[in-house]
Amino acid sequence: MNKRQERDRPVVVVGYPIDERVRREVLEPDFDVRMLSEGDPLEPALSDADGLVTLLTRRIDASVLDAAPRLRVVGNVAVGVDNIDLEACKARGVRVVNTPDVLTRATAELALTLLLAAARRVPEGERMCREGRFAGWRIDMLLGLELQGRKALIVGKGRIGAELGRLLSALGLEVGYVTRDTPKETADQLLSEAQVISLHLPLRDDTRHWLNRERILWLREDAIVINTARGPLIDEEALIDALEERRIFAAGLDVYEREPHIPERLRRLDNVVLLPHLGSATRKTRYEMARLAAEGVAAVLRGERPANLVV
Ligand code: DGY
Repeated sequence: MNKRQERDRPVVVVGYPIDERVRREVLEPDFDVRMLSEGDPLEPALSDADGLVTLLTRRIDASVLDAAPRLRVVGNVAVGVDNIDLEACKARGVRVVNTPDVLTRATAELALTLLLAAARRVPEGERMCREGRFAGWRIDMLLGLELQGRKALIVGKGRIGAELGRLLSALGLEVGYVTRDTPKETADQLLSEAQVISLHLPLRDDTRHWLNRERILWLREDAIVINTARGPLIDEEALIDALEERRIFAAGLDVYEREPHIPERLRRLDNVVLLPHLGSATRKTRYEMARLAAEGVAAVLRGERPANLVV
């Protein structure tokens, strides 16, 4: 008798120490759950797995899928699915679910945090205080930019982009959007007029380096670039050049081109705010992401169609 015939419950591998309540309430009632630590190799655990819940730090490609002949569904605890080879999944009939909606507000709020911090030079002021360099109020100290009345361009009008747009409108910015359907000339024109540019596109072959060297050259001197989506949407080297040469005012980055590597040149700059991919990092959101990914996996394994199906 082979392993499949021996058991009556599907196996779900969870690639990180998922929230205990999610494990107990969503997975354990119907499945045999195999918990891994983040550093554990995935392939050996997948040999007889029916479902997988994974973090975006694991690449799920053809070789991983080949090691998982029974796999029917991958639940990505993220809204972005660029860590997963979707074509390879489709070719093998493996479904993919993700975590939209639950992280929208948290990520939009972090984009706003980066924008306010970059505009008002918060990290520079903070470092000055910590390092004992605050020698008293000065009329010309760390002068920043006010946001009211500025032109913001949101690149990508998905859930997070639209939510940030609402927040920025409430703060009195004039908000415009570029979507997949915006003609290139119009997008370029809007970009050259924008004072705030925030990226909210999924990372795909056609969005890689959306903000390329040429486009960076057209940015205004008072432009602030925000990225909470994926690092490779920006030509990072070209952005560093612009920041070093003070051709734009500042940037606020939560994601990097070769994450987790942050180039030394970027770390040395004082006109950039750097965060370690914290967009969705609130307790509530991370719990809801884990639950949604696990529920999607459970639904597929029960033969239902989950709302968060990607392919
Ligand atoms: C995502 O969900 O894609 C974020 O990058 C992590 O929250």
